[in-house]
Amino acid sequence: MAAPIVPVDPAHPAPDVVARAAALIVAGSLVAVPTETVYGLAANALDAGAVARIYAAKGRPAFNPLIVHLADVADLPRVAREIPPVALELAARFWPGPLTLVLHRQPVIPDIVTAGLDTVGVRIPRSEPTRALIRAAGVPLAAPSANTWTRTSPTSAAHVAQQLGDKIALILDAGPTTVGIESTVLDLTTTPPRLLRPGGVSREQLEAVLGPVTIPAPVEGDAPRPSPGMVKRHYAPNTTLCRFGTGEHPAVLAEAAAQAAAGRRVAVLAWSALPADTPGLRRMPDAPAAYARELYGMLHALDDDRVEVAFIEDVPRDPAWDAVRDRLTRASTPT
Ligand code: TXA
Ligand code: MG
Repeated sequence: MAAPIVPVDPAHPAPDVVARAAALIVAGSLVAVPTETVYGLAANALDAGAVARIYAAKGRPAFNPLIVHLADVADLPRVAREIPPVALELAARFWPGPLTLVLHRQPVIPDIVTAGLDTVGVRIPRSEPTRALIRAAGVPLAAPSANTWTRTSPTSAAHVAQQLGDKIALILDAGPTTVGIESTVLDLTTTPPRLLRPGGVSREQLEAVLGPVTIPAPVEGDAPRPSPGMVKRHYAPNTTLCRFGTGEHPAVLAEAAAQAAAGRRVAVLAWSALPADTPGLRRMPDAPAAYARELYGMLHALDDDRVEVAFIEDVPRDPAWDAVRDRLTRASTPT
């Protein structure tokens, strides 16, 4: 049966809606929740059986740990231990917000949440309904992005319903997400700290508080990864994505025109000013925050429109584009 999509006011969530979702969480069910980054697939983080349902619904491999979501920083010692002062500085600066901190875990967090690691990823999301839900349920929420494993993350309740609607109890709909790509993941259990995933908080913003942060080198083949979730292909639509450099656009336009003439559905996603008669042209924003907000919606739209091949213009090499470039690279990596 398809999960009901229940609208909730993003600023002033109705207490009866929050109570309905909280009752499901306490009973061990799965609820899709809004955050500022992407929609999450939430369960009681202290209930191993409920968390097992997350992995089953997503088809997610057990080696990939989940992020634990809190409502208030005062609850951090419930889930993490040996919290360094810098974690509290980062929390004061960026929470609620798109930053996940990897810390040493408390034993109350079940192994299945952390994939057996002695660390736990924690964040406080900006969404009022989701924080109200955490307070009402009285437990932290384990929540990955609410998509099927390796597919495009959801930035709306409709995206969640498409991929997981028949596997969960309820979808809380607070409208489209505002950041649009996942949180930055920062490991504070190493010296210096390691940036495991670029996201809504930039490396520059972190380094202003922390000093130098390292970025682990990409890992090839089956070698162990610094973060278990660092898979090369991820966030991918069914549409084949081909990236091109801004200088290569004449050749790409010719190729797109040839494919369109041969009857294939094509799209060209560009942030720079390409000619308006470019076949299948879809304009992307030319600023990184706006681009991030629209990216997953665009990838979902390519699938909805059954586009067979999409040519995507590479984004500028500037660090401000790191998180978007990471998602585009992984979405366009062939299987
Ligand atoms: O914005 C977000 O972070 C969204 C919303 C729902 O909060 N969540 C999300 O979760 O993107 P997920 O499961 O799709 O990605 C979590 C990432 C994975 O790459 C995972 O490996 C990493 O965080 N992670 C979680 N716990 C970790 C840990 N203890 N050590 C290292 N990496 C960890
Ligand atoms: Mg994910």
